[in-house]
Amino acid sequence: MDIFEKAKQLKSEIENQLPDAAEALEQFRIKYLGSKNVLKDLFNSIKEVPNERKKEFGQVVNELKQIAEEKFNSLKEKIGGEKKSSVQNNIDLTMPGDPMWKGSRHPVNIVKNEVIEIFARIGFTVAEGPEIEDEWHNFTALNTPDDHPARDMTDTFYIQQDPALVLRSQTSTVQVRVMETTKPPIRIISPGRVYRNETISYKHHVFFHQLEGLYIDHKVSFADLKQTLYYFVQEFFGEDFEIRFRPSYFPFTEPSAEMDIRKKGTDRWMEILGCGMVHPKVLQNCNINPEEFKGFAFGMGIERLAIQRFGIPDIRMLFENDVRFLRQFSNT
Ligand code: DAH
Repeated sequence: MDIFEKAKQLKSEIENQLPDAAEALEQFRIKYLGSKNVLKDLFNSIKEVPNERKKEFGQVVNELKQIAEEKFNSLKEKIGGEKKSSVQNNIDLTMPGDPMWKGSRHPVNIVKNEVIEIFARIGFTVAEGPEIEDEWHNFTALNTPDDHPARDMTDTFYIQQDPALVLRSQTSTVQVRVMETTKPPIRIISPGRVYRNETISYKHHVFFHQLEGLYIDHKVSFADLKQTLYYFVQEFFGEDFEIRFRPSYFPFTEPSAEMDIRKKGTDRWMEILGCGMVHPKVLQNCNINPEEFKGFAFGMGIERLAIQRFGIPDIRMLFENDVRFLRQFSNT
């Protein structure tokens, strides 16, 4: 057969081939474009071609090569594309999805909100104050003597740029701010973060949260304080809890007490708060006439309540933001 005729035949062969799967396409590639392809064989026959037509023959073979390449590339795209879309169509909609974690409330906030709600039921509203305070609100107005150890830098964080400012060491500051600006009757609770220069351990941290309570009116007695706190304990801990008061000392209350709770029938008392009748000096410092008004105040640590409620062994866990810890409160 004339070699030009052979080339023509190969051309129509290439053009008519329609490999429709990856495997057939690979056969096509090996046959026409592989290292031992038929076009090479054809080209090797150039010696049979008379000299004057050698150039023409070279062009014919080149054209064949080009056709084969183009066909291969377009088929590859087509077959590959179909493969992709068939994968897409193969999505199994019945497969279970990846679970997405819902955020959860922080245990300190869970407890804080519950305490707010309990006091709201008996008429206490929430008041807030700044975390960076002056010495007046953190100490002086609260009747804290100049030489009181709490004022020492080993206990309280002072702001370097302005030593008259501190990171508040107690939420009692908010008592003062409210009394300075509000006429009695006053019935507030004030939850918030406080700071102390403590050595960090499983029991202590350099910041934690307190919740302060203040009630000022014409006739407020220690019995009111007791009844209010007893109500709180029954609501928060349960009806099988009892309370006891131990005399204590705070500069801003007189008399002062600490309150312990205990599950009935057990013998372990747990201290949960400090309290007392607001000191007449504090009322005076806030321009409230102590002859006319009396009041009680109390302050408790929120972490301590959370630790007791959830059985948390180490206060540091509350501030590490480890999701494995935090996720455990998602149903609370
Ligand atoms: N501020 C006190 C503390 O940080 C707690 C406290 C005790 C608050 C007695 C009060 C109170 O309002 O009356 O230890």
